[in-house]
Amino acid sequence: MATIKKIYWHLIFVCFFVIHGVFVPSVLAKTPQICNSQKDLKQVKLPVKNYNSILEKPILNVMNELNELPIRFPNAISLASGRPSDKFCQPESSISAINTFINYTKKNSSIPVNRLLGQYGKTSGIINEIIAKHLLIDENIKVKPENIILTVGFQEAAALCAMTLFNKNDVLLVPDPIFIGIAGIATLYGIHIESIPYEDSLNINDIQGVIEKVRKAGKTVKAMYVISDFSNPQGSSLSLQDRKTLLAIAKKNSFLILEDNAYSMFRYEGEKIPSIKSLDDSGIVIYLGTFAKTLYPALRVGYIIVDQDIINQNGVLVPLIDEMKKVKSFLTVNTPALDQAIVAGILLNNEYSLIQFNEEKRKYYVYNRDVMVQSLSEEFAGYKNITWNIPHGGFFLIVNLPFNFTQEMLEECASSYNVIVFPESLLSLYQNTNNRIRLAFTNVPADEIKIAITRFANFVKNKMQANNIDKQL
Ligand SMILES: Cc1ncc(COP(=O)(O)O)c(C=O)c1O
Repeated sequence: MATIKKIYWHLIFVCFFVIHGVFVPSVLAKTPQICNSQKDLKQVKLPVKNYNSILEKPILNVMNELNELPIRFPNAISLASGRPSDKFCQPESSISAINTFINYTKKNSSIPVNRLLGQYGKTSGIINEIIAKHLLIDENIKVKPENIILTVGFQEAAALCAMTLFNKNDVLLVPDPIFIGIAGIATLYGIHIESIPYEDSLNINDIQGVIEKVRKAGKTVKAMYVISDFSNPQGSSLSLQDRKTLLAIAKKNSFLILEDNAYSMFRYEGEKIPSIKSLDDSGIVIYLGTFAKTLYPALRVGYIIVDQDIINQNGVLVPLIDEMKKVKSFLTVNTPALDQAIVAGILLNNEYSLIQFNEEKRKYYVYNRDVMVQSLSEEFAGYKNITWNIPHGGFFLIVNLPFNFTQEMLEECASSYNVIVFPESLLSLYQNTNNRIRLAFTNVPADEIKIAITRFANFVKNKMQANNIDKQL
């Protein structure tokens, strides 16, 4: 009996090896092997004239560079890009949001769920009513659902403006330096851009002069892009007076304002300032929104509010939004329905408001900002020629150095000092090297912010010493 038992156990043992030693590798052997070596690939060399030469403009490298810096310098702490903290990106919780939206749809819509979430969808979106309620509650913006298009992030909303609004002689005004998303898209579409200087605040008094210059050149200002709250890169906001002045200038000169309010929910001090859209009684503001910071960036959901009519080529008044829908129908067809369902579900679960929903994030970011400011104060105590702003919200602050910070310095700082910081000049249309650095405080935990600022300070101090720059100057 004992021998039979032994044989039995031997058989089980052998079967185990047969299964795991022979069967499993044969399955693995069927896994396609991707080609990792350049020499196995056939290189096709196209003549240079076969691609769009606009892509050679340096400003179009910046977005990729920002995303790739942490990959190129894996040991460095990155203060370069304005991402929300990883800990607040919670895609797992989105499944229940989809279910909330499905239940809501079953009660409120005659469209079957499989069609609504599974088919090609309405170009303008499927959650417009929910977004309109959210905007009324959180931003005091009154908008009809049919005046909203759900977009693939802010970026598609900007592309819709670029492709719908501008003719050959039309000009876009932008503050400079500026969020690279808008400068990049306008450049790609060959739009003529004129800049309004924005150092610590927007030089509102310069706008009229730039408009005259554009007119003299036989062109027309069609729109101006602005970030009303906690701008990228400067971290500052337009005052209420500036918002009203801008509206008056736009009205007088018949151009549109493209308002981007990506950071409005992240205010750390002071009273909320009304958005330009909510102050607009002449219908000249197009509002571009995103859930990249308030929910999470991978969702790629944003929206655009367009409630203007325009005169078409035949002299007929048509809703501008209809023209934008035409463009979107060929650009992305529709914004992914499941992503919209996640946004809608979260809004439904939170009574249409994201203020309380974002309270933990807001507290985390304000703490991080304070740690960064405190670390800068400690590291640069006695350095009168090194200054920084303390933003009342948003994701960034700016440090002014007593020397110009080049792109080579970015590389040196990252490779030798293990910290990635971002020169503001790379976010300018002119990309002239200057002394200003943008630091993001949202994506790195406070203890790492302290280490990163010490490393950055060591770099700065060594550079000053090497160039005989006195700290008291
Ligand atoms: C000013 C500004 N607008 C919009 C966005 C977000 O754009 P998206 O929705 O395309 O991620 C960002 C992100 O960095 C930003 O800084």
